[in-house]
Amino acid sequence: MRVVVTGAHGKVGRAAVSALAAAGHEVTATDLTRPVWERREPGEPRYVQADLTDAGQAFAVVREAEAVVHAAAIPDPTANAPQVVFQNNLMATFNVLEAAVRFGVPRFVNISSETVPGFFFAERSFLPDYAPVDEEHPTRPQDPYALAKHFGEQLMDAAVRRSDIRCISLRPSWVQHEGNYERNLGPQVRDSSQAGAGLWSYIDVYDLADAIVLAAESDLPGHEVFYIASPDNAGGHDFAAMLHRYFGDRIELRPLARPDASGISCAKAHRLLGWAPKRSWRDYLDENGRTRQG
Ligand SMILES: NC(=O)c1ccc[n+]([C@@H]2O[C@H](COP(=O)([O-])OP(=O)(O)OC[C@H]3O[C@@H](n4cnc5c(N)ncnc54)[C@H](O)[C@@H]3O)[C@@H](O)[C@H]2O)c1
Repeated sequence: MRVVVTGAHGKVGRAAVSALAAAGHEVTATDLTRPVWERREPGEPRYVQADLTDAGQAFAVVREAEAVVHAAAIPDPTANAPQVVFQNNLMATFNVLEAAVRFGVPRFVNISSETVPGFFFAERSFLPDYAPVDEEHPTRPQDPYALAKHFGEQLMDAAVRRSDIRCISLRPSWVQHEGNYERNLGPQVRDSSQAGAGLWSYIDVYDLADAIVLAAESDLPGHEVFYIASPDNAGGHDFAAMLHRYFGDRIELRPLARPDASGISCAKAHRLLGWAPKRSWRDYLDENGRTRQG
């Protein structure tokens, strides 16, 4: 397929481009960053520079695509003014999706976020009703980033109502790769009280890229939402014991697939996309949360 990947120079986009190309797709990469004005290396995807908050640029990029993977966004609400995050993320999603609907692109993969239920950047304390959190959990976002992701998922609902496009929203947990595992997860591997805001969950970027390929290739109709989190928690701690120790009975404990389960369930992605994550923090870090040598 001809697949357009937005946010292609970011953490997630880069891994998605490589995984889609390795799966045999013809990838067009797009981002805000400048192109390199040199001869393309063999296997290097086509690159187009575009600011997707501009509808014309979004339409120019999406034209002729058979699938769109939309990963472009400001990935956090803390380093930009709130209205910048909200406007950038929501309008980029609106424009890319609008272009896909108008050009009759059959498949849209929307990179949403685990923050949609209310995790991570809430101004007032947020606790999920139950854990592991799944796609049935009510959504109670507070901050501009999670709100834009929440509205982005609603844009997908509207798109499948008004056209034949098929949409999949992936809600990745906190994305990790060889360059940031130790910095992000090391403290929590050493000490479970250093819980990430997502109930000790995380996702390896290459497992996420595998999920993106499956979503791009999927025939699922309508709009489906999937959490994408590694099945284990960062640190391999006993999840039931940790939940009780830090939250008492304020979060209902639901059945666990394994004792060291993540606080986010990826059972639906396994069931409907056939996604089977292969990596763990243990491949990168030792028991002290330090990068494995060699
Ligand atoms: N990093 C995480 O832990 C995490 C977790 C859940 C969801 N996500 C989502 O995954 C996606 C990718 O995040 P990432 O971690 O790779 O972030 P990133 O910042 O590394 O990459 C995002 C890319 O999007 C591009 N971009 C932003 N606004 C744009 C615009 N208006 N037009 C064109 N390109 C634009 C940026 O230039 C950047 O290269 C985002 O949608 C993010 O919200 C990330």
